[in-house]
Amino acid sequence: MKKVISVVGARPNFMKIAPIHKAFLKYQDTVTHLICHTGQHYDEKMSKVFFEDLELPKPDFYLGIGSGSHAEQTGKIMMEFEKILLEEKPDLVLVVGDVNSTIACTLTASKLHIKTVHVEAGLRSGDRKMPEEVNRLLTDAISDYLFVTEKSGMENLKKEGVSDDKVFFTGNVMIDSLTHYLEKAADSKILNEMDLTAGKYVLVTLHRPSNVDDETQLKRLFKMLAKISEGRKVIFPIHPRTRKNLDNFNITDHLNGQIILTEPIGYIDFLSLTKNAQLILTDSGGIQEESTFLGVQCITLRTSTERPITVELGTNQLLGTDLDKAEEAAMKVLAGEIKSGQVPELWDGKAAERITKILVEELL
Ligand code: UD1
Repeated sequence: MKKVISVVGARPNFMKIAPIHKAFLKYQDTVTHLICHTGQHYDEKMSKVFFEDLELPKPDFYLGIGSGSHAEQTGKIMMEFEKILLEEKPDLVLVVGDVNSTIACTLTASKLHIKTVHVEAGLRSGDRKMPEEVNRLLTDAISDYLFVTEKSGMENLKKEGVSDDKVFFTGNVMIDSLTHYLEKAADSKILNEMDLTAGKYVLVTLHRPSNVDDETQLKRLFKMLAKISEGRKVIFPIHPRTRKNLDNFNITDHLNGQIILTEPIGYIDFLSLTKNAQLILTDSGGIQEESTFLGVQCITLRTSTERPITVELGTNQLLGTDLDKAEEAAMKVLAGEIKSGQVPELWDGKAAERITKILVEELL
């Protein structure tokens, strides 16, 4: 019997591990698949609700790390994860994405000579000021096997000199979850509950330090949202980081009745909000991909993206942090000037099947 431990830590990890866990069940006679939750995200609405929505089992290990500076969070995860690895002696550690839990657990396993695999490898924004970019570079540099979601990832790894036999182009596991739960999302009551009409509202998510940790930028963002909300509802589920800053900076004067601020929203309801939005304004990585898959208009308020396929092929527009430009682009979309898009190669709901097949039949 082989043993694999997959790591989840923060919200965007859960929808990536769920299809991988389901795909491993097919091999349960030969592989035990265990899940370790570092506890980087711990609020019920940032974590527990996703386990329920995505039908994930309770994690086999919970490290309870919580928040802290980058060094604190990364260091604590390493210390706790090392104990699990020494006790469990897995054959493989699987990590996803680019959060602090991703690099912390890869580094810990690597130092113990346990094979590691990174799912969603090769993505690069080119901006090392983003903590995620540092996490991506380091995780890929020490992982034994790299599974890639889009062509740019293959090119980046080649440029960095990674040998071809470590790299597999398998598609996007997050889209596996999306396609699996789309039908369920159609039954969500969230639009009714929020009194929203499909195709007639703007969905906003902002949580990157570059947008929400700076008082002037956050105030300017809310001013822009107030303008956009003059003709329609704007729904904004607030990430805890953003919530904290809204309170600290006393940003209430730009709010009006058309901007609806809510708590973070679970996976199924959020999928329904995404699918039915007229436009999404975001700085999230995953939402750029989900909107491209669904053909929903998306404006990304960042200067770079590690997911360029969503701009080249999809419905995403990368508009930097110049909010006048962003507002103008938003108004154009809302007036009907939309960007048409296509679904990228291998974003077909079967990425986790491909990944587990390669792992079990070739690598384990
Ligand atoms: C993390 C990831 C980011 C990802 C985001 C998704 C890193 C470096 N960043 O950012 O890539 O896009 O998750 O959500 O790993 N907090 C709570 N409750 C929680 C979690 C966090 O209140 O359950 C608050 C705490 O005040 C904490 C702050 O949010 O200090 C930031 O949390 P942290 O995990 O450091 O990073 P995120 O901004 O969530």
